[in-house]
Amino acid sequence: MTLDELQTNDIVVIGTGYVGLPAALMLAKAGHRVIGVDIDENIVRAINEGVLLVKGEQLQEIMDEPTVRENLKAQSTPCEADVFIIAVPTPLDKTNKTANLKMVVEATNSIVPYLSEGNLIILESTVPPLTCRKVMTPLIESSGLKVGSNIHLAHCPERILPGDIFYEIIHNDRIIGAADSVSRDMAATVYSSFVEGELLLTDDITAEFVKLIENTYRDVNIALANELSSVAQSLQIDAKGAINLANRHPRVNILTPGIGVGGHCIPIDPWFIQQVNDQNSRLINTARVINDEMPRKIVYQIKTATQNIDGPRIVAIGAAYKANTADIRESPSIEIVRLLRSEGYEVNHFDPLVDGMNFPTTMTDACANADCLVILVEHESVLRELDQHEQDILNVLGIPLILRF
Ligand SMILES: NC(=O)c1ccc[n+]([C@@H]2O[C@H](COP(=O)([O-])OP(=O)(O)OC[C@H]3O[C@@H](n4cnc5c(N)ncnc54)[C@H](O)[C@@H]3O)[C@@H](O)[C@H]2O)c1
Repeated sequence: MTLDELQTNDIVVIGTGYVGLPAALMLAKAGHRVIGVDIDENIVRAINEGVLLVKGEQLQEIMDEPTVRENLKAQSTPCEADVFIIAVPTPLDKTNKTANLKMVVEATNSIVPYLSEGNLIILESTVPPLTCRKVMTPLIESSGLKVGSNIHLAHCPERILPGDIFYEIIHNDRIIGAADSVSRDMAATVYSSFVEGELLLTDDITAEFVKLIENTYRDVNIALANELSSVAQSLQIDAKGAINLANRHPRVNILTPGIGVGGHCIPIDPWFIQQVNDQNSRLINTARVINDEMPRKIVYQIKTATQNIDGPRIVAIGAAYKANTADIRESPSIEIVRLLRSEGYEVNHFDPLVDGMNFPTTMTDACANADCLVILVEHESVLRELDQHEQDILNVLGIPLILRF
């Protein structure tokens, strides 16, 4: 398949959320006719009305382009196409810490009636190694077609950073994994229509593993920073100061400790490595445990700092899983507030970036009648406000206590 042939053909994107919608937009912008398929009727309606539910100014600009409005349509069931891209959630089964592939299975089954010879299926969802071969291939072959022979399958995991999707989807290098070279080349053709980063070709199992390695690398390094922070605290020294000094070594680059790890990827993907090889994932497992313990440790610090106040009233700021985003998935700050409330603490929780959680008026007003302000997520706008109004805030607090982590 050449790029010219693809230009006139249809691409169906199954699952038009954080990952699928930006891909659909970029492909439509590049001139492909794209059908976004989502089981959520609100998402289907929003796409057809040109409204973006995933936040991002530049993505809305792309959505507003006449070519994109013309090329991108949405519907709730699949249809025939040349290329099918699957970008559905792969959540963690929290009981046994393994990937729940139910939605990948459902999405794959949903396209089987529409498959025909020469089609390409691309899985963008993050999955444990061997998912393409052991889970998807048998489902696709139930159509009577043979993967790697007269139908093609590739895994092209997504690496975008929520908050900077537009830049990253174009400029990041992209892993293109498939068991055979025809599937690989076809998938590379699809992504070459909008990716300016390098297309890195490999096999499907390596591609599945690489995506997990990336997030596990982050998780383990964050766990190291968090562990060092706990040790520094026991020594009553400033953890961030000590880490900054250690980072002056030319070959040391320790990350910043925090309140825990959140989002849809980092707290989840390392478990997908452990599930395929438990015995050799001891460090990965320990890092997960350390990071998952952080909300409890932060709660302990808040309780210690407020122990002399009878029934402390707390204002907590930040619900997103990290600074400067509105994404609250797996957010440690939400867990911290939940734990505090479960122990009877009165907590008012705000996040100016999260819908429905903004301050009624100002941050200073939100602190009136409270004893203590806890900054859980350091959004730039929150730090600016704190910088400008710190004295006013201290004046309205019952006790002049501002905790930052
Ligand atoms: N969000 C990120 O930043 C990010 C980054 C890299 C990788 N990923 C991975 O990408 C995958 C998708 O994540 P997401 O963040 O886009 O999820 P999401 O929840 O934002 O979007 C997924 C969409 O799929 C739809 N869906 C579910 N089952 C469907 C089906 N059978 N048919 C049609 N639509 C269906 C849902 O309604 C939803 O709109 C996951 O595997 C995730 O781990 C996410």
